[in-house]
Parts: sequence; structure tokens; C-alpha cells
Amino acid sequence: MSDSTFYVTTPIYYVNDAPHIGHGYTTVMGDIITRWHRQRGENVWYTTGTDEHGEKVLRKAEANGVSPQEWVDALVETEWKPLLQTIDAANDDFTRTTDQRHLDGAQAFWTALHERGAVYKGNFSGHYSVGSEEFVGDDDVTAGEGDDEGFMVSKLDGSRVELISEENYFFRLSDYQQKLLDFYDANPDFIQPESARNEVISFVSRGLRDLSISRSTFDWGISVPWDEKHIFYVWIEALLSYATSVGYGNDRERFDEVWPASIHLVGKDIARFHAVIWPAMLMAAGEPVPHRVFAHGWLLVGGQKMSKSKANGIRPDELVDTFGSDAYRYYFARALTFGSDGSISWEDINARYHAELANGFGNLASRVAAMIGKYYDGSLPAAGAPTAAEQAVIDVVFESVAAADLAIEKIAPQDALSAIWRIVDELNGYLTEQAPWKVAKDAESSDAESDRLATILVTAAEGLRVLAVLLNPVMPKASAGLWHSLGAEPALGALAEQRIDGVAAWGQLPAGTIITKPASLFPRIEAPAE
Ligand code: MSP
Repeated sequence: MSDSTFYVTTPIYYVNDAPHIGHGYTTVMGDIITRWHRQRGENVWYTTGTDEHGEKVLRKAEANGVSPQEWVDALVETEWKPLLQTIDAANDDFTRTTDQRHLDGAQAFWTALHERGAVYKGNFSGHYSVGSEEFVGDDDVTAGEGDDEGFMVSKLDGSRVELISEENYFFRLSDYQQKLLDFYDANPDFIQPESARNEVISFVSRGLRDLSISRSTFDWGISVPWDEKHIFYVWIEALLSYATSVGYGNDRERFDEVWPASIHLVGKDIARFHAVIWPAMLMAAGEPVPHRVFAHGWLLVGGQKMSKSKANGIRPDELVDTFGSDAYRYYFARALTFGSDGSISWEDINARYHAELANGFGNLASRVAAMIGKYYDGSLPAAGAPTAAEQAVIDVVFESVAAADLAIEKIAPQDALSAIWRIVDELNGYLTEQAPWKVAKDAESSDAESDRLATILVTAAEGLRVLAVLLNPVMPKASAGLWHSLGAEPALGALAEQRIDGVAAWGQLPAGTIITKPASLFPRIEAPAE
């Protein structure tokens, strides 16, 4: 794995509006996974970006009285790029579908497919949902009710559909039904979790229709190079951004180095585009298919899918301003099962912040530093011989590191955090049992007790060292604060350079390391009510 590139993508987000925490969710989870893999020493490439063409964006720009280009330029700069700072994402690239590299690459791709005979001209007559930018089959539309009374809506997601009739180009998707089914069979991990895999297989088994790949009634898109009256259907150029951003159509050497993608992270609503249309397009072009598509669930607020159109969309900065980016990242990774729907609430974030981060972890870090300060003037002593109690801590650390690493491999960050929290709980329990503050009372008059005190505090400091490394992908700011407090850098190097596979090796902080009290990692918050 380490010589090939571990390439992870988020979906590219529509810029019809500002981001909400549903968008931040995928980006944070991808960021945690890729930071972890970097600390495994892998060659990582993590990309995100914006999906700027299509009717939805066009209509929004028109409604605001500006050109679509002006609209997307403004929103990308004022909202979408700043989101990455807000949530502390360390993406390697940000791709826009209005970038020249994307335009060139997308045209090159479809020219190749046209030349290979995978594309033909026809007439499309049927339903289209601008809300989800999707052609909707006749069987999947129904009369709307309530607010949608008088409109036809998609059964797939409830969005309104419009009847369109226009000349289009089609991609021979129907040729790929059996090829895709064989591919899913041969690659059982391609689409995860199991629920998404089952849905995709049953969808493809019902039969595939050829897909319209162009539109001709508006011009906000990439023109079809062999017939300029047409622009490409937004999805089939958006999917291509995963390839065009790593050199497809511009830099073949780079593309071959990075491609295929290791993981496309997507919400479950768009799993089908990624697990059906996208591999079929790549097969048609003779390019390798991605290794995995991982579909996560919905963030639910008050039991409902959170979305801008339902006006329950929460902006990431609303949470980050109160709790900070570390707690934000931790919350989404810890409280939800990646791959399933999950409810979030202000009360839950607040409760976990105080119980798990401030009391469980932050307090542990400051207590240990304070005791080393008090009993040893901040200079780490040399540990004495370990007893069964220390061995139990070391065992938990070993097991937890292995379990967390496996969980990240399986794209289950919540399990990784549970494993890491075993260390937090173990250390807190260890300190309560060993009561170093009691041992300290006898340490002056007894060499044995003095040895014990040193052993206990070194064990706790070593545990914190491991936590700083393991939590760095999740909470980079707090982990940097802890690394600094542990005075670890002079002996061990920068935090980001610490490898997961070596972290459990015990006794890395040398005697004499200068430990200082950390700035409060998670200060108590008087959180305003939701
Ligand atoms: N532009 C397309 C993706 C093209 S990828 C080649 C798109 N954009 S989107 O902005 O509408 O959605 C982006 C992602 O946000 C999707 O994965 C979607 O599932 C996710 N989410 C939107 N609302 C969400 C929640 N309430 N909860 C979790 N994720 C949600 O689709």
C-alpha cells in the first residue's frame, strides 16, 4: 500500500448555497481517515471541491440577478473554501468544475468514449429533477402532496420533477448491466456498507437504461466538443472531477501514479451515481475502477434529514464557534456510526464535550502534567520496575492501537475512537487506583515509594504520548497542545511524524523531558441553549 497513493475524495459540493454540517460531515470524516493514513506513513492524496455547473446552480444565480460564474466565484471564496479552515481540514487539493484542467479533462474523456462508440444521439422525453440534478424514470414519479400539491415529485427523494423533451446524447449504460454485476461479485468491498451494496445490486439487477449525458436547453456547463449546441449533463462531468483533478486529460503520468481512487466517500443518496454510472464510464473508457465507494448516512436533526431546503440546515461555524474545531470533529466521528443515519443535537455535543473531552481527556492531561510539575519540578523522572498495574496499561495501549488501526482500515472512525477511549478510561482508572498523590506523601522517606511515584507518573505520561499521536488525526489542535505540554518534540520529533505502527512501543519519553502544564485543552463552556 505504501508505494501506491492512498487517494480519498469527498463529493464535490453544489454551490447553489452555503455549506451546512451535512457537507462538513463527509469532509471531516475523510480528513480523519487521511490524516490517520498519513501517520501510517502512506502516500496520501485527499481532495475535495465544488460542483459548479448544472441547472440548480444556474437558477440560483439567476434568482440572485448575477451570472452563474459570478455566483460560483463568490460562493466558493466566501463560503466553501473557508469551510475547510473552519473544520480544520488538511486536504491536498480543492477542485472546481469550472477549472480549466477539469474542462479539458472532461472533454477528453467524452471524446474518447464517443470515438469508442459508447455514445449516440437521441431524443429524451421524460422527467428531470433540478433539485437532485437527476433524470427520473416514469415509474419513479408520483403526484406531490401538501406543499407539492399540483407538482409531480420523485419517489427517490421527494424532489419536484419537470417534464423535459430535448435532443440529447446518450451513453450506452445498458451495455454494462452484467459487467457491473460481475464486478460487484468479484469485488465485494467495492460498495460499502452492506446496505448500500444490496441497494445498488438490486437496482442494477432490475435493468439499466441508457443514460442521457447532455442537455441542450441551457448553456451553464461544459460543451460537448463534437457538438457545441450541447453541454454535458452535470453528473457525468462532476464524477470526472475525481480523475481530472489528478491529471486525467492533462498529465497522464500523474494520473497513472494516483489512479484509481482508494475511497470515494459519499452520502447514501449519491451512492448509485458512484457505484453504477461511474464504474461503467470508467470501464467504457478502459480505465481502472476505484477500489471503494463508502456511503454514509444522514445527519438527522429532530428526526429529519438535515437540509437547507427544510431550513434545518446548521452551519458548521455555528458549532465550531462554540465548541472549537477539535470537538466538532470528535463529535461527528464519535457520536455517529459512519454508514448509518444518526441524530445530532446541541445538548449531545455539549454533554460529550464536557464529559468526554473536558473531564475525561483534558483533565487527565492537566492532572498528570500538574503532578510532574509539583513532585519533579516538571522534569520527567526515570521509571522504576513495572508492576502488574503498569503492564495492564501497556496491554490496553497495545490492544487499542491495533483495534483503532483496524477500525480506520474498515472506515469505522467511531470504533477507532472507542478503542482510543479505552486508553483514556484505563489511565483515569489507573491513576485513581494508584493514587500518586498518596504515594507522594511517603516518597520522601521511602526509596521504594519514591520509585513507585516515578513509575506511576511516567506510565501516565507515556499513555498521554500515545493519546496525542492517536488523537492527532481527530483533534489536531488539542493533540498539538498535548505534544507541546509533554515536551516530546526534542526527543521524538514533530507530532505529525509519529507513526501509528510504532506508537505503542513503551518508554519513548526520556527521563529529563520537560513537561509543562497544557493550556486548557477543553475549557468549560457556558453553552447557550439551541
Ligand atoms: N454535487 C453532488 C455530488 C457530486 S460528486 C461527483 C452533490 N452535492 S451536494 O452538495 O448536494 O451533496 C454533497 C454531499 O453532502 C452528498 O454526499 C450528500 O449525501 C451530503 N449531504 C447533504 N445533506 C446531508 C445530511 N443531512 N447528512 C449527511 N450528508 C448529507 O450531491
